Amino acid sequence: MQRRAMLKGCAAAVAVPMFAAACDVLDGSAKAVEELAFDPGAFTVETKTVATFERDKKVTYQFYESVVYVAKPVDKAYQSLSVSVPVEIDGATIDASKAPILLSNSVGGYLSSSVTSREPDDGGARAKNRDLALAAGYVVVESGARGRDLVAPDGTYQGVAPAAIVDLKAAVRYLRHNSGRVPGNTDRIVATGVSAGGALSALLATSGDSGMYDRYLADLGAADASDAVFAAAPYCPITDLEHADMAYEWNWGANPLRPGELDAAASRELSTAFTEYQASLELRGKNGFGRLTTGNYGSYLVRTYLAPAATAYLTALPDADRSSYLADNTWITWAGDRAEFAWPDFLAHVGARKKGVPAFDAFDLSSAENNEFGGGTVEARHFTLFSLRHATGDPAAQLDSDLPEKISMMNPMFFLRQRNPGRAKHWWIRVGTKDTDTALTIVSNLAASLENLGDDVDAAMYWDAGHGSNEDAADFIEWIGRVTGYAG
Ligand code: DHB
Repeated sequence: MQRRAMLKGCAAAVAVPMFAAACDVLDGSAKAVEELAFDPGAFTVETKTVATFERDKKVTYQFYESVVYVAKPVDKAYQSLSVSVPVEIDGATIDASKAPILLSNSVGGYLSSSVTSREPDDGGARAKNRDLALAAGYVVVESGARGRDLVAPDGTYQGVAPAAIVDLKAAVRYLRHNSGRVPGNTDRIVATGVSAGGALSALLATSGDSGMYDRYLADLGAADASDAVFAAAPYCPITDLEHADMAYEWNWGANPLRPGELDAAASRELSTAFTEYQASLELRGKNGFGRLTTGNYGSYLVRTYLAPAATAYLTALPDADRSSYLADNTWITWAGDRAEFAWPDFLAHVGARKKGVPAFDAFDLSSAENNEFGGGTVEARHFTLFSLRHATGDPAAQLDSDLPEKISMMNPMFFLRQRNPGRAKHWWIRVGTKDTDTALTIVSNLAASLENLGDDVDAAMYWDAGHGSNEDAADFIEWIGRVTGYAG
């Protein structure tokens, strides 16, 4: 409203040329929004060779570097994106003007992330998808965001929750605002990320067009456009943070930590609390499994994700290697064409867990997540009553009053419980079976929540794979083409 009024006043001044310059200066807000226009000519031409499933492909693409996506950035180094548009693949000209857009955030560890320079292919999950998407003729947007390490000269933490998700929403709004100027179909944005970035891609895709972030977006001078995305592909999302300690102890509570001792009493208490949380979600398992509870969740994971992952892995092995794997892992029964095993044996196979107790809201405030929920000039805070009360010894202690809303603003499960209509309806969710950065239930509860809402979910696990793995990138690229209806 306010912006429109200012533009009108400005238009009158522009009619008299001598006032036009003054209008530019006076009407900073309107000018700022104008600055959010994407310049289609501001690219360099780059080439790269991409090893695809079939063969190496030479891709020529237009590269738009360090495009600032908000009018009033706090730090341009992070609040900018890059755009890669394929124009030639193996010598054949291609037109990506209507192609799906793979929007890949580069967040890791909830730290600040920058895309201000050309990133080499580091063999990581993100780089693999980015390069294969380009070679498939899709537009790739890589977005940076502020993170928990960003501190102003006065000591204020500028990138703690909800800064990263606000930035990614601003990036989506920028793309939508520039629909027709920015190459690709801005109604077919597929958000992806890995780990903390996976969590943020899931959050971006579940919270589309929620008004909760409006005041933060307005402060940044974000474009006035929809921030809903079409699809999402979170890899090993570190999410549902305020319930992740309970889930972790239920899942990995019996697994040893190296080195050091685990606080068995705290582990038991957290694990017990998970039963009530899981029940409160009222989720149904896939394929008519019924209500998911801590009583049946182990067998649900085996049946739905773990045994199929083991089966796929073992099926792909040459006979001799399969025999040798099975000889080393006698807890797995190979029933001709599929693997069978029990949940406790799977847990023993995974072995040492990565994190202590509690895994996320550390008693000593030392975790990445404690910092992510810092605020003002305070570097780290508790974000669960369990850890706050345990650490302070005060059974009546309460979270800082600004935290409950911020915690919700960081949690895709919050938006799924609300059935947010602006959420993405197509999902590709992946995690490795040996990834103990968070509980496997975090990932399967995300999938089940979406499935229960009737969304299109392709969720799977990679057998024996650790944190950040991506073992079916070619299938993901094909999936993007299918769900977006893009013929190429
Ligand atoms: C990441 C990993 C973690 O274990 C965590 O707690 C937060 C973020 C990451 O790799 O991004």
